[in-house]
Amino acid sequence: MERFANKVVLVTGGSRNTGLDIVARFVSEGAKVWMCGSSAASTAKGAAELAARGVPGVRAMPCDISDAAQVTALFDAIAREEGRLDVLVNNAANQGLGQGGPLDVEPDAMRAVFETNVFGGFRVTREACRRFFSIQETRGCVVFLSSNTARRAIRGRTSYCASKGAINSLVRSLALDLGPLGIRVNCCAPGYIRTERWDSLDPSVIARRRRNCPIGREATGADIAAVVAFLASADASNMSGEIVTVDAGCSCQHMPPDCDC
Ligand SMILES: NC(=O)c1ccc[n+]([C@@H]2O[C@H](COP(=O)([O-])OP(=O)(O)OC[C@H]3O[C@@H](n4cnc5c(N)ncnc54)[C@H](OP(=O)(O)O)[C@@H]3O)[C@@H](O)[C@H]2O)c1
Repeated sequence: MERFANKVVLVTGGSRNTGLDIVARFVSEGAKVWMCGSSAASTAKGAAELAARGVPGVRAMPCDISDAAQVTALFDAIAREEGRLDVLVNNAANQGLGQGGPLDVEPDAMRAVFETNVFGGFRVTREACRRFFSIQETRGCVVFLSSNTARRAIRGRTSYCASKGAINSLVRSLALDLGPLGIRVNCCAPGYIRTERWDSLDPSVIARRRRNCPIGREATGADIAAVVAFLASADASNMSGEIVTVDAGCSCQHMPPDCDC
């Protein structure tokens, strides 16, 4: 299936974990993919990982999306080398790990999370729409990565949950205003995704997380990439402003089984 033949796709946060799988998925469907991590080192590491997996032709360029000048430079390069962009995947995220809950989190720390997740995602989206999607005949589309924690919070992650809630609202607002220009904006909201961070988890924690999933397992990066690719494809051509939850059924339950009474 080559739904993205001759298409150019940009994946932010493509340097590790889920981002790598999203990049690989679009390449496997015929796209020319650009990806960025936040630094030269992480971007080079991600490019090496993709090459080791046998994913060909990815254009990797570092870009800290919280820095306007770096975003401009990235889009200058895409304009120069491709002259078009068809799909933007806003996957980059600051997880805000270790910031704590509302009594602990410092405003500057919270601001840093929003600078990447909300303002950064908006900055990249606006650049894509101004430079390509609103002008080129074929238009374009945007897929954000939010989280099921936008609707059902998790403890001790105030900044992250709030930023993902802001993304959900941003997606609806963008879809409303950009729809008349022929630009679709959608969102994939994952639950648990198996990442390298799981490698250091105690097996009892993994088992507990799986009990929290009605279908009994976390998502792989490939599971998420498949939904992102669907939302970006012509198969979803009548969808815009949607938040598609991909969380093994977690959000549909009132309580996990070991809390039921
Ligand atoms: N993992 C989960 O269980 C889970 C659950 C729900 C939702 N999600 C969402 O799904 C997406 C992928 O999750 P993940 O766990 O695979 O992410 P991750 O492991 O935390 O990786 C984040 C990616 O974003 C990049 N990034 C961070 N700040 C950036 C910045 N300022 N500019 C550019 N890139 C930046 C990182 O680049 P560097 O390598 O340079 O740091 C990395 O490539 C995220 O949006 C996340 O919030 C994840």
